[in-house]
Amino acid sequence: MNPEQERVKERIATELGRGRRRSNGLTLDALDDDGLQAQHSPLMSPLIWDLAHIGNYEEQWLLRAAGGREALRPDIDGLYDAFENPRNERIRLPLLDPAQTHEYNERVRREVLDVLDRVDLGSAVPTPGGAVDGTGRSLLDHGFVFHMVIQHEHMHDETMLATHQLRRGAPVLLEEVDPITLLSPPATDEAYVPPGTFTLGTDDDPWAFDNEKPAQEVYLDGYWIDTRPVTNAAYTEFVEDGGYHTQRWWTPEGWRWRTEREIFAPAFWTQEGQGWSRLRFGRREMIPPQEPVQHVSFHEAQAYARWAGKRLPSEAEWEKAARFDPGTGVSHPYPWGTEEPTFDHANLGQRKLGPSVAGSHPAGTSPLGVQQLIGDVWEWTSTTFHGYPGFTAFPYREYSEVFFDDGYKVLRGGSWATHPTAIRSTFRNWDHPIRRQIFSGFRCARDADRD
Ligand code: AVJ
Ligand code: FE
Repeated sequence: MNPEQERVKERIATELGRGRRRSNGLTLDALDDDGLQAQHSPLMSPLIWDLAHIGNYEEQWLLRAAGGREALRPDIDGLYDAFENPRNERIRLPLLDPAQTHEYNERVRREVLDVLDRVDLGSAVPTPGGAVDGTGRSLLDHGFVFHMVIQHEHMHDETMLATHQLRRGAPVLLEEVDPITLLSPPATDEAYVPPGTFTLGTDDDPWAFDNEKPAQEVYLDGYWIDTRPVTNAAYTEFVEDGGYHTQRWWTPEGWRWRTEREIFAPAFWTQEGQGWSRLRFGRREMIPPQEPVQHVSFHEAQAYARWAGKRLPSEAEWEKAARFDPGTGVSHPYPWGTEEPTFDHANLGQRKLGPSVAGSHPAGTSPLGVQQLIGDVWEWTSTTFHGYPGFTAFPYREYSEVFFDDGYKVLRGGSWATHPTAIRSTFRNWDHPIRRQIFSGFRCARDADRD
């Protein structure tokens, strides 16, 4: 086998192992059967559903589609199909219990490592249905389908962290000893991004999903963007200035949501006399003023931005700030260039259970002087999730395409809970504009005055 394939396969095996240790740490190692099988929130699945769904997805894509093997448990596919079963109904399904889930996932993984060993990543394997694959691309291309499955597991791990955050009862997740975070705040609050083109999306990243493609040159007028995410301190000013009670800051849809749900602060916040506390993974603590605000919906982010005399960036504005080097004209995969993320660059991968204070991770600063674009909190943008011009679904429409143009808002950059393999400057996440159990925050932008 050629050394390039050898290298790709070794990396895949390492990342598969890391993903599974993380998934088990959030489930089998953390809670008893009741805790794993309970519905902790109507917004979320029972944790044991996520865990078996991770294994089932891996079986479908790596054993059956890539490996050409027969189904191990054809009877359970329907149970773990996210489209057939809404999250709040999964508890009523005859799911595998925790011991059965563990056994199933272990069996799938053993066979996957065997497939990985034998497979020729250079061979052509079409998508199962074939029909959606207008690209003529192979599932195995540069290890793509393995990368897809690795990222899928980490996405569900982040989802399971949101379930943990909503769970009542004694804390079960250990806060790691706080890794050392360098603090070096940018000199200015906003960075100017000059007018011109940059590259939006990617054609050649072997980890990229279909919705990040095809790459295109996009022209943007000049604009200003915050050099840091909006902090709790700044957001508290909005709250205490009556932001939640002033209709003009909100869109009609946002105001209706706020009013019907009687929302008056970010999720998990409680007023304590003069200040605010929050509940975080079962522990109550005072709100740290310098941390990026977390657990706000798109509507709250939008209202804050208007109150501040600004607006949310479009996803293209966010991406340009996160990858364009005005010195060379090159658009890089990460704000700092091409090196894979380390903790110096970005707070990713559940190294701790929350964002780093604003002004941290200076090694991750973009050439335009913008900080903390990757990691810490997902950042809401003003853009509705859509397909880029020339989009082709690969390898299945249900990853992205079925969500296009349906009111979902794009989030960028990943959070502290996002694994480094599942984020880059081109990565696109999306959610309903009312959602805030996710690890979401934002930064603001504004038009440049034209002369
Ligand atoms: C890309 C995070 C919106 O969790 O709904 C998980 C990822 N796709 N299983 C989601 C996903 C299939 C997806 N997001
Ligand atoms: Fe999934």
